[in-house]
Order: sequence, then structure tokens, then C-alpha cells
Amino acid sequence: MKGRIAVGPGDGIGPEVMAEGVKVLKTIEKKFGHQFELTYFDIGGVSIDKFGVTLTEENIKMCGERDCILFGAAGGPKWDIPGTGVSAGSGVLIIRKKFGLYANLRPVIVFPGMEGCSPLKPELVKGVNLIVVRENTGGAYFGQPKKQWVENNERNAVDTMLYSEHEIVRILKVAFELAQSRRKKLASVEKANVTETGKLWRKIATEMSAQYPDVAVEHMYADATTMWLMRQPSSFDVLVMGNLFGDIISDEASTLAGSLGMGPSAQLAGLPKKGEKAFGFYESAHGSAPKHAGKNDVNPIATILSVALMLRYTFGLEKEAKAIEAAVAKSVLTHRTYDVMEPGKTKVGTKEMGDVIVAAL
Ligand code: IPM
Ligand code: MG
Repeated sequence: MKGRIAVGPGDGIGPEVMAEGVKVLKTIEKKFGHQFELTYFDIGGVSIDKFGVTLTEENIKMCGERDCILFGAAGGPKWDIPGTGVSAGSGVLIIRKKFGLYANLRPVIVFPGMEGCSPLKPELVKGVNLIVVRENTGGAYFGQPKKQWVENNERNAVDTMLYSEHEIVRILKVAFELAQSRRKKLASVEKANVTETGKLWRKIATEMSAQYPDVAVEHMYADATTMWLMRQPSSFDVLVMGNLFGDIISDEASTLAGSLGMGPSAQLAGLPKKGEKAFGFYESAHGSAPKHAGKNDVNPIATILSVALMLRYTFGLEKEAKAIEAAVAKSVLTHRTYDVMEPGKTKVGTKEMGDVIVAAL
């Protein structure tokens, strides 16, 4: 297999975690006889410093000519200057919208032996293995009008939560199909008791469920979902929801695993068909953590697991993806970075954690 990957390490700890992701990818390359050509590009603050924008047209074009994008993290206090309209995080939104990556898959796995890292009681998080499917290119993030204005001497602001039928259908299709390949349970999350988008969402989800008789669908309000995620997290399999709810609930869900440093993500324009390369944008769930930059102490696992998702969804390399996930599962039994450190484990830095995972591979 030959693959071409655009690699954007970004800001803060981005380059450090990316180095470990790439190290794991190179190990897979050797072990399984693949060839990946990497093209590095600037995104976020580094790009603002060099070019004045978070992502240049040239780099967007380059990304579009690759099989997929692997991304570290972007942003930092240096670039969050209110009123300038420039924000390092906006590069992520540009890529989502530009490439139509409407499906954001955010898996949360509590690895055996890591139950004690969770802020919840270990017996509650034992066996948690869920995936949040977040609609990624619509809803309150992109709906128009979206603006601020002054009227009658006061400031006003509006965002629009807009969903068209085709947007709801295609994200639900991804969720139903994922559920079919897993434990066949789907929670469809909205606020059908209050919002019109929620009412339409529930209607469409109910209609579509007839095509997936093997999947047990539960319609849940977003507020109740946040509560059940705390009370019975292991009862969830696949959760699907709109953009804003997905942003919030995926952060909550990732916390179950004990650290944002454990959470990968895949952003896709639908699930790949068999034998087809699906363009995707892969990134960890965490941010650029500027305070930790250059300290070699953060957890590279989110990025390493994102590499596994990339192999699975863009390159169809399931065996290789599983090998990485198994290597991570094995490594955390003995070695930990500070964010998930527990008594009896060997505390290691970013680079060393990468080395342990490579050795397990
Ligand atoms: C995420 C992030 C982004 C979002 C930010 C950085 C724009 O929080 O990927 O969840 O809100 O979607
Ligand atoms: Mg978020």
C-alpha cells in the first residue's frame, strides 16, 4: 500500500505528539511493508506568524491532493487576540468545511487497567467503549445569519442552528452503519422537546430506523444524555448528534477515559466503501497546551490512536489499526505519562511513551 499524507504538527505540544505519531506510523510501514509519503505543512499560529493566516490557500490545495491530513494541535494565547478576526483554531473549521468532512468520529475507550484514571468510580467506567458521531459542518457553527450588531443602543448577537434533511440523513447513516459494525446500539441525541431542528432530527431518525432493524435506537434529549453519560457510561455504544451538542458531549465523554490525552478523532465525508480510500482529517481531541510545550511530558496516545483511525478509515488497513490499538492497550499496563499516572506504573515522558508503544508493536 502506498499512501500520501499531509502532516500539520501545529503549535504548542502539537509537534511533540506528532513526532510520536509519525514514529508509530514508520514502525507500521516497516512491519507491514507499506509506504507513506509525508508532506509537512504549517497550520495555526505557526502559519499566522509566517503568512498572516491560519492556513494558506496553497496548503489547503496541497492537503486536497493528499489521501488525508494528520494534525497535531493549534492555537495559544499569543494568537487569541480578540477583535483581530484571526484565531489559530479556525484552521480546523476551514478544513472541515472546505473538504465537506461532515462526520466527526470521536471514540472513547477506557483501556483495561485504566479505570482508576477516570474521575468517575472505576466500576462505572469499566468496559466503556463508545463513539460519539458529531455532525461537523452544519448546525449552530455554520448556519446563517451569524453576526453581531448594535440596535437601540445595545449589542445583539445571533447564531442559527439550521439543518437540512440531507445533512441529517447522511450523518444518521454513518451512525447507523457504525452501530451495525459494533454492538448495534444507537443513541440519537437532540432537543426535540424544544428545538425545531431536534423535532426534524427525531422524525428522520425514526423513519430511518426501519432500514436498520438490527440496531436498537434510543432517542435522547441532550441534557439527559450528559446525565446518563455520568451515571451509566458503559451502556452507550454509538451516539449521534448535531454540531454544538457534539462539541460539548464529546468533551464530556472523553473525560471518562481520564484524560483528553487519550482521545483520538477522525473527520470524514462519510464512511469509506470497501476498497476505497476515504479522505479524512485526523487529530487528537486535546488542544495545544502551550504551558507544556517543549517539556516532553504530555501524552502522545491521542495522536497515536488517531494514526490508527487514519489507517482504518482512509487506508482500509484494519489489521494495522488494531495492532496500534493493541500496542497502546499493552503499554498502558506498565507505563504512563503524568496525566494518567497511577501508583505502580513507570512514569515516562512523551518520547518515552512513544518508544514503549513502538516496542510493543
Ligand atoms: C473541537 C474544538 C473546535 C470546535 C474548536 C477548536 C473550533 O473544540 O474540535 O471540538 O469547537 O469544534
Ligand atoms: Mg470541542
